[in-house]
Amino acid sequence: MKLIEGQVAVVTGAASGIGLGMATLFASRGLKLALADIDEDRLNAVSDELAQGGAEVLARATNVADAADMQHFRDAVLERFGRVDILCNNAGIVSPFRPLWENPLPDWERVIGVNLWGIIHGIRLFVPGMVAAGRGHVVNTASMAGLIVVPWNGLYNAAKTATVSLSETLRADLEAAGSAIGVTVLCPGLVKTAINSDPTIAALIPPDAVFLEPADVARQVVSAIERDQLYLATHHGSDELVRTRQEQVLSQVRRVP
Ligand SMILES: NC(=O)c1ccc[n+]([C@@H]2O[C@H](COP(=O)([O-])OP(=O)(O)OC[C@H]3O[C@@H](n4cnc5c(N)ncnc54)[C@H](O)[C@@H]3O)[C@@H](O)[C@H]2O)c1
Repeated sequence: MKLIEGQVAVVTGAASGIGLGMATLFASRGLKLALADIDEDRLNAVSDELAQGGAEVLARATNVADAADMQHFRDAVLERFGRVDILCNNAGIVSPFRPLWENPLPDWERVIGVNLWGIIHGIRLFVPGMVAAGRGHVVNTASMAGLIVVPWNGLYNAAKTATVSLSETLRADLEAAGSAIGVTVLCPGLVKTAINSDPTIAALIPPDAVFLEPADVARQVVSAIERDQLYLATHHGSDELVRTRQEQVLSQVRRVP
């Protein structure tokens, strides 16, 4: 789908990092913005700055893991703009790296709540209207952790793998329904954002690791929307990681004769 001035882009987790990068690029292309984030102060600051730059912005403090909160956000977006063209289910969090079985219940609930239920609520609440309108594009932010296993990151791996599966299924279901709506599952490697500041994660990142800027990721997202690309792995070398994983699967799934 081509980006056209006046279209409406919804972005969750828009107050920082990749979400802010996408919102900023959409604004520079003349799109109207509907922004959600749990951090109300930062969201308002970001929204004011984008509005000063000329964008039309609706900003709502929203917890994407909360069904009622997301429903209020959806209602406010439709009341203000009456349409949604691009939906970016992007908000996400991490938890400390540790062996899977040592994760406490609140961490499971937080990570699955934000990273998986956030995507589910976005799809559930916004996609029906997009299907009815017959146009649009959905971008779900997963991670390379949705395509390969990152040790000690099991909660996040589980939510991001499910996000890849939801995106693939959404694409298949839309195609089967004859809908023209596109889907992209965004699978970044390391990006320079606040999410990597947890000390247990930062300690494991090799010194020569390549970090992209959020603006680089945003440019790739726009290109994926315009080319209707389902999988978007942002970093060089991602294809090799995916190939190795698939070969591992294939080498072990053969039936014993
Ligand atoms: N930065 C990376 O290296 C990287 C790599 C792969 C995937 N990702 C994914 O990119 C997405 C964006 O993360 P980022 O790197 O920009 O991090 P970030 O911390 O800069 O931004 C995440 C935003 O989400 C918001 N948020 C957190 N919980 C929320 C909730 N319950 N409801 C609404 N908003 C909430 C935060 O306030 C923050 O503004 C996440 O889904 C993350 O998993 C990031």
